[in-house]
Amino acid sequence: RYEKWWLTLGTGSLIIFLIILGISAFHQGHQPPSAKAYINPEQVDVIAPFDKPGLKKVEGKEWDYELVLVASTFLYNPGEVEVPKGSRLKIIATTKDVIHGFEVAGTNINMMLEPGYISEYTTTLDKTGEFLVVCNEYCGVGHHTMKSMIKVV
Ligand code: CUA
Repeated sequence: RYEKWWLTLGTGSLIIFLIILGISAFHQGHQPPSAKAYINPEQVDVIAPFDKPGLKKVEGKEWDYELVLVASTFLYNPGEVEVPKGSRLKIIATTKDVIHGFEVAGTNINMMLEPGYISEYTTTLDKTGEFLVVCNEYCGVGHHTMKSMIKVV
């Protein structure tokens, strides 16, 4: 009798454990905040798309604009960009040297750029205004000067 009770408890907790495991696996698989692919940081300048950083309008994709961005101490290339209100923007970014951040104040854009990796983030810019871009990862003496701007017009 006693053993049966323990067996039920054991089986029950195993099932609960498996359900939790399943739920967390589902969440991880279904919300990648930033896809990461490998890139040689020394070849960022010559590997597409980073050989031509900038903002470009794209056709036939789920987003309207692509911002190809290269961070390096202590600047972003391109710097200030202007995007029409309501556009869907895909940011494709990497860094040439150390870890930098790409946080856009007042939006949900907050990316960590790691050497050797490509970070991607897609969002819709639905408010007009000037949004300050800041580096939120300490990257050296000029860290606090590492800023840019996204203008939504
Ligand atoms: Cu770049 Cu801090």
